[in-house]
Amino acid sequence: MNRVRVGALLSGRGSNLQALLDAAQAPDCPYQIVLAISNKPGVQGLERAAAAGVPTAVLPHRDFTGREAFEQAMTAKLEAAGAELVAQAGFMRVVTGRFVTRWRDRLVNIHPSLLPAFPGLDTHARALEAGVKLHGCTVHLVRETVDRGPILGQAAVPVLPDDDTETLAARVLEAEHRLYPLCLSLLAAGHVRVEGEAAHVESPGKPLPLLINPAGSDTSASDVAAS
Ligand code: GRF
Repeated sequence: MNRVRVGALLSGRGSNLQALLDAAQAPDCPYQIVLAISNKPGVQGLERAAAAGVPTAVLPHRDFTGREAFEQAMTAKLEAAGAELVAQAGFMRVVTGRFVTRWRDRLVNIHPSLLPAFPGLDTHARALEAGVKLHGCTVHLVRETVDRGPILGQAAVPVLPDDDTETLAARVLEAEHRLYPLCLSLLAAGHVRVEGEAAHVESPGKPLPLLINPAGSDTSASDVAAS
């Protein structure tokens, strides 16, 4: 089988990269990770890639004269590795329009919120502050505007009354690790069609009909006793 070649961009821990690598172990996975690039030296994500036998490159962004020079170096490495798709996995740099154009509809990102809610940083603290009852993560194609772009998939988790940012982040991260390999596989296998700013995705399974929080999908208002 000809697997689609994916280059990963990261800046840190690399747990999402690990999930992508683990899924790629399956013989029928439609993608393979062929390169991991970090803009930070010595991060755990690089170790994870190396442990999986994936070539790594470190391109410290500060070594370059500007964002475009940095991105040109990334593109050169990605091209040399024969990358057809690029997956940002905890990559903490905003990319320019030129990079987005070069990799248009082939550059993917995972964001820890249900976009378009909570773009940017500190998503879990902001979700708690806003009192939302469902939170989650989004895999989307990258556009020039940060954390915007055609959505390939989302996973929702409940926000529980006792949550703090750590417990909520951990629940979302688990969802990220399931969602990202699925979405990357769907993209690699050609199940995504982009129309304007929306992506149409062929779902491999039946979606859950409903997710309600508080309570579960099998409870209703008549279960709530008057106080
Ligand atoms: C994840 O929460 C991801 O959604 C965000 O940055 C975090 C990276 O975590 N973009 P890891 O490096 O994949 O563990």
